Amino acid sequence: MCGIVGYIGNRVAQDFLLEGLRRLEYRGYDSAGIATIEDDSIKLTKSVGRIASLAAEVAEDPSKSTLGIGHTRWATHGAATLSNAHPHLGGADTKILALAHNGVIENFAELRSQLKARGFDFKSETDTEVVAHMIAERVQHRLSESNGKPPTQDIAIEAIKETIGQLRGTFGLAIVFKQWPDAIFAARLGSPLVIGVGDGEHFLASDAQPLVGYTDRIVYLADHQVAVLKSGSLEVAHRDSGVVSHDVRTLDIESNDVDMGDYDHYMLKEIFEQPEAIRNTMRGRLSEDDATAVFGGLNLTPQDLRKVKRIVFTACGTSWHSALVGEYLIEDLAKIPVEVEYASELRYRNPPMEHDTLVFAITQSGETADTLAALREMKRKGHPTLAVCNVVGSSVAQEADGGIYLHAGPEIGVASTKAYSSQCVALTMLALYLGRIGHMSYSKGRKMISNLQELPEKIEKALGENDKIREIASRFQHCENFLYLGRHYNFPTALEGALKLKEISYIHAEGYPAAEMKHGPIALVDKNTPSVFVMPQGFIYEKVMSNLEEIKARGGPVIAIAAEGDTRIAEVADEVIYIPHVVEYLQPIVAAIPLQLLSYHIAVMRGCDVDKPRNLAKSVTVE
Ligand code: AGP
Repeated sequence: MCGIVGYIGNRVAQDFLLEGLRRLEYRGYDSAGIATIEDDSIKLTKSVGRIASLAAEVAEDPSKSTLGIGHTRWATHGAATLSNAHPHLGGADTKILALAHNGVIENFAELRSQLKARGFDFKSETDTEVVAHMIAERVQHRLSESNGKPPTQDIAIEAIKETIGQLRGTFGLAIVFKQWPDAIFAARLGSPLVIGVGDGEHFLASDAQPLVGYTDRIVYLADHQVAVLKSGSLEVAHRDSGVVSHDVRTLDIESNDVDMGDYDHYMLKEIFEQPEAIRNTMRGRLSEDDATAVFGGLNLTPQDLRKVKRIVFTACGTSWHSALVGEYLIEDLAKIPVEVEYASELRYRNPPMEHDTLVFAITQSGETADTLAALREMKRKGHPTLAVCNVVGSSVAQEADGGIYLHAGPEIGVASTKAYSSQCVALTMLALYLGRIGHMSYSKGRKMISNLQELPEKIEKALGENDKIREIASRFQHCENFLYLGRHYNFPTALEGALKLKEISYIHAEGYPAAEMKHGPIALVDKNTPSVFVMPQGFIYEKVMSNLEEIKARGGPVIAIAAEGDTRIAEVADEVIYIPHVVEYLQPIVAAIPLQLLSYHIAVMRGCDVDKPRNLAKSVTVE
């Protein structure tokens, strides 16, 4: 949920730290801070609010140090205040270290009272400060016993290992010590940390984006690992054993992936990137010769997959909506029963599941704590697990038995857009693949492939309605309640449209199966409550039209997402946004485009921070 950066090398550290925090701001933006080590002292600068405020503070009293760490926070323990901002200092009388943390320490209260009993006083309400003092106490104890021997950094490493052995919960830690001004120490359990390898320099970050433009060599720290970064060396050790080897991989993110370009917001850029994003998702994965999809990373053979009698998708938020689309796709096209489970529920609901159940974790970031926990629970039960994920090397991607990478490029806007459409495309290809292992004919497979190949142009056409959608948004920007209604394949689309509006414009919006609104929600309908009907052509169109009429009969305004050429809808709906004709199983992808743009424009008109909505963060790495 929070963002961590660190730098050691030959540059002025604060420059990388501030730029890295700007790129990680989508992970949390309540408060921020940096700590550098210079002239044997810790220089700490913190601010409440955005990175721009921190940068202004730093400019008042810049640091020349070439070693430092930084943090941008999404509050878990304690409000967004200066005292709760990271990094936190550790030490009883003398402060000997600065520490930044991403994650949640579940047993922090008991540890805090033990430290208080030993004379430590706390400046914050955070669980993080507890860890800082625990490490400091162990280092100070070892230094007092060193009997004049030069204090090696093994003292720090042992103190860190001992401390993390006492913690329950998750952490990504970045630590700098006054005593060892030539090193950054890092430790990971459940919250991601990556290390950039440079020439005479090393970088630390919560994910790969801060590294772009600085290095393309990356090391993914694994759970239970501790690392020591120096300008000319990197050492990685396992908490319970010694030094381990580490793979240096190549980072496949380009600079323009993380720049906003000519767009006003990352969200708008990512909405318009969707045609290219889904081309990348499909690239090399559609086999016309065999009329099927091809995946290189499922790690399950057709023989294995033929034995699968049920599939469980587990996810959160927008990924849960794409999972619902996947349920319709796979049941319709591959005739395999599918269950969709909220990850936070699946972990504890403990549903009876047969041994021939295949579990998919669907997650853009690959770091959502609830989804990771559900995946681990399914693995613990012995089920084969696969991931549909957008971030290479993320925790879910590493821990699943295999999976499908989206290749949609970094998604920085907190509201998921291109990842959603890419997830739906990946699940459509999965339905094709499973269908062709089953009973789907060659000709139907070829038809699916050509429908998928036409999809980017269909999305481009839907994007062409942007100006009209902006006009419609202006007419409804002041409404405080919306209903989103759709059926069959477009029931998940209605849910996704409602979530987009909620999370970036703060307007209350509910998604429902269109027919369901008669069983209660229709009571909400009045002239100030617009209903957005997702109703492109299909076998269920007439039924949805009846639901629309029921809303109109009660004075509710209607915005319809309809197939181009549908003149009848224009006679009943107050506003119509047309989308190109596509087969029903691709409608969720094309129909999502106007819903994304509608929510974007309303949010902008309401003065909301579209890319960093209040209370939210891009990757929810706490449960
Ligand atoms: C989507 O717009 C939201 N930001 C949120 O619901 C998100 O989809 C959810 O937190 C799951 O994230 P993930 O796909 O990275 O697991």
